[in-house]
Amino acid sequence: MSAADGPSRPDVPPRFHGRRRGRRLRAGRGALLTTLLPRLRIVLPPEGSTFDPHALFGDTVGDVWLEVGFGAGEHLAAQAAAHPDVGFIGCEPYVNGVASLLAQVKERELANVRVFDDDARRLLAALPDASIGRVFVLFSDPWPKKRHNDRRFIGPATRTALARVLNDGGELCFASDQMEYVRWTLEHLTAEPSFAWSAREAADWRHRPADWFETRYEAKALTRGAPCSYLRFRRRPRRETAKNPCAIGGSDYIRG
Ligand SMILES: C[S@@+](CC[C@H](N)C(=O)[O-])C[C@H]1O[C@@H](n2cnc3c(N)ncnc32)[C@H](O)[C@@H]1O
Repeated sequence: MSAADGPSRPDVPPRFHGRRRGRRLRAGRGALLTTLLPRLRIVLPPEGSTFDPHALFGDTVGDVWLEVGFGAGEHLAAQAAAHPDVGFIGCEPYVNGVASLLAQVKERELANVRVFDDDARRLLAALPDASIGRVFVLFSDPWPKKRHNDRRFIGPATRTALARVLNDGGELCFASDQMEYVRWTLEHLTAEPSFAWSAREAADWRHRPADWFETRYEAKALTRGAPCSYLRFRRRPRRETAKNPCAIGGSDYIRG
C-alpha cells in the first residue's frame, strides 16, 4: 500500500511506515503521557465526519496552524510561544517525540497546543474545507529508495487533502535537506493548481524564512554541511482559476 492509499480511500486506512517507539522514556516524560496528553489529545470523530479545529481552542485563537511530523517538537513549541493567538495542532505518531513536545508545553506553559499522536493523513481527512491557516511539513522522511518514494508524505493524495483544508491565502511550508525530495515536492505541488510557489529568487528557498525555527533534523543536516531547502506555497483563493505559472519549470528553477 502506498501514501496514495490515504484518506481519499475511506475503505483503506493509511499505513504508517515510521517508528512509533524509541528508547525507554525517562519517568517524568512517561508520566506526561498519562497526565498531560489526555488533556491535549485530539480524538477524531467517526469516520466520514469532520470536526471544527477552532473549537479545540475556544475563543482564544484567530487561526489554526498544523505541523506534520513535529519530531521532538522544538519548532512547534517555538511557534506556539511566538503566536499565542494561533492554535497549533501537532501530528506525530512517534511517542518519544510526543513526550518531548509535552515537556516543552509544560515548561513553557503553552495553552495553544493540541496533539494528534497518529498519522497526519487521518487528521487531514477529518478536517473541514478551508479550516487551517498554515501547514508545516519540515524534514519529513525522505524515503530515498525509489521503491519507497510513494511513502513520502507529499504525494498525490496528500496534496489534494492539503489544498482542501487550507484557507484561501493559507500557506504550506516544506523543508528538506534531500534535494531529490525537494524536487519531488516542487513537481507534485506545482502540478496542483491550488498552490503557488512563493519563491521569487534563489535566496527565498536557500535560507530558512525568518518566521520558522530550527528543527532537530535541520540542525543535524547543517552540522554535517548538507544544504537545506525551504519551500513556501500559497493556497490560491478558490475563486481563482488561473493555472499555476510555476507548474512550468518549477523544478528546473531549483536546479540553478
Ligand atoms: C525525519 S523526522 C523530522 C522531525 C522534525 N520535523 C525535525 O525536523 O526535526 C520526520 C517525522 O515525521 C513523522 N511522520 C512521518 N510520517 C508521518 C505522518 N504520516 N504523520 C505524522 N507524522 C509523520 C515521523 O514519526 C518523524 O518523527
